[in-house]
Amino acid sequence: MRAMAISPEHPLLLRIVDDLAERGWSQQNVFLTQALTVALAQECRRRSRAGELVPAAVGRGLEPQVRQGIRGDLTQWVDPGGAECCDHYLALMESLREALNRGLFLGLEDFECHFALYPPGAFYTRHLDRFRDNDRRMVSVVVYLNPAWLPGDGGQLRLYLGAQGTPYDVTPTGGCLVVFLAGEVPHEVLPAQRERLSLTGWFRRRGSEPF
Ligand code: OGA
Ligand code: MN
Repeated sequence: MRAMAISPEHPLLLRIVDDLAERGWSQQNVFLTQALTVALAQECRRRSRAGELVPAAVGRGLEPQVRQGIRGDLTQWVDPGGAECCDHYLALMESLREALNRGLFLGLEDFECHFALYPPGAFYTRHLDRFRDNDRRMVSVVVYLNPAWLPGDGGQLRLYLGAQGTPYDVTPTGGCLVVFLAGEVPHEVLPAQRERLSLTGWFRRRGSEPF
């Protein structure tokens, strides 16, 4: 697979920056190549079979807890050097980080992401991605890894947009990317009829801690 880093001036990235500036979110139906989408999906399934994905917890601080009535996905954080396809994705996100910093002056310092697998029936109730006790997460990025997703499969990402909180549904089709301001766009994941795979990540700014 060829290297996936792209220029921060790439029109696709500039469109995302413009969308975020104008309305706080962006959807790109064709962001990942088919080859990278397939490789990432295989890597996610491989990790799942190996038992590496664990039930996601909610809350921060001392005791995050697994609450399947709030979220039922299984996740694993992605570290550099673990798989070629993951490194390609991280390189793409590095280009997006640069584009966002140039265009929006957000001072984004790093990126963290995890594979997420929603078993059939799993969901994630309405929430914001920015923690009350830690506001480093500025921009959320979700990319979907599911081949041939049909409307009847469910599993939409429902964004609540604008002052009215108007619902807008994203179909989690492989290769599609959704980006939104972490502190401003409430959202939820509706239950799916089949396994639903994604990579979910956050651009973070510098912490305000003195050290
Ligand atoms: C999350 C989340 C959305 C999705 O993990 O915080 O909201 O579509 N994921 O997977
Ligand atoms: Mn979220």
